[in-house]
Amino acid sequence: MKDPVQNKLERRLGRLHARQRLGIEIDHEAQIFGQGINFFHIENWYSIHGAIRATLTATGLYQRGLRNAARIQVRHNEVRSHQLPAAFDGYTLLHISDLHSDISPGAMARLAELLPSLTYDICVLTGDYRGATFGPHEPALEGLARLRPLITRPTYGVLGNHDTIRMVPAMEEMGIRMLLNECDVITRAGEPIHLAGIDDAHFYRVDNIEKAGEGIPDAAFSILLSHTPEIYRQAAHAGFDLLLAGHTHGGQICLPRSIPITLDSVLPRRLGAGAWTYHKMAGYTSVGVGTSIVPVRLNCLPEITLHRLRRAL
Ligand SMILES: [Fe+2]
Repeated sequence: MKDPVQNKLERRLGRLHARQRLGIEIDHEAQIFGQGINFFHIENWYSIHGAIRATLTATGLYQRGLRNAARIQVRHNEVRSHQLPAAFDGYTLLHISDLHSDISPGAMARLAELLPSLTYDICVLTGDYRGATFGPHEPALEGLARLRPLITRPTYGVLGNHDTIRMVPAMEEMGIRMLLNECDVITRAGEPIHLAGIDDAHFYRVDNIEKAGEGIPDAAFSILLSHTPEIYRQAAHAGFDLLLAGHTHGGQICLPRSIPITLDSVLPRRLGAGAWTYHKMAGYTSVGVGTSIVPVRLNCLPEITLHRLRRAL
């Protein structure tokens, strides 16, 4: 017998998408090897987390890293496009990624202080609301619910590899439009842009760019939200103008000059943090707000990002 959430998700997403995601979640929770785009999943290897913490403590870096984890930077990125309708010149997206809200209390408190001071048109959330990759998701939703009233503009989201699809009904009840291989049209002065989002491509591999993008006209300006930037080739060749992603944490624990030890991704390093381009597509990989594995950041401060769209002449 199906549980009520499964029924709800099958109605919301279609039977196959809901069954695939729920089934893989049950099969592969906390799986370290195999399944995803990459073979090794450090985020699922829980016994290594204590060893990393002990090493950082022994080298005197733990307390500094803990303080860094709450030092959120507000970054600004400009995206120029000939495709952008004139009515959207100056349109601004607030991009928040990788909250890991249940295990990142310092960053959540700082984010709550920052949000009221920001000006933007819409907010986009690029996944990883939960700290662990399995287990209870309610504390992550509670963290999100505390932030939600501070985000005053329409808000869209996608899921990450740390999230369960069981979070979707509660997030939509909070007024967050979840884009699960779907696309919305945003209009301004009668002119449209298209905002699409895909389900997690990194671990669950239930992303479907073809479905998300099938209704977007060739000449339209379109944005794709994806938790991971690893689908950059598929997004660019599908004709998206802008890809907004997170997942990498920019490495989270980096060597001096922000050189990541691992990005937990199959990705050219230049796509691991900040603004980049691939063919004609602009991209941005947020290093995220929260932390996972250990609650510290070194040489990689957390961020939220204001993307300002500009019409290229
Ligand atoms: Fe994350």
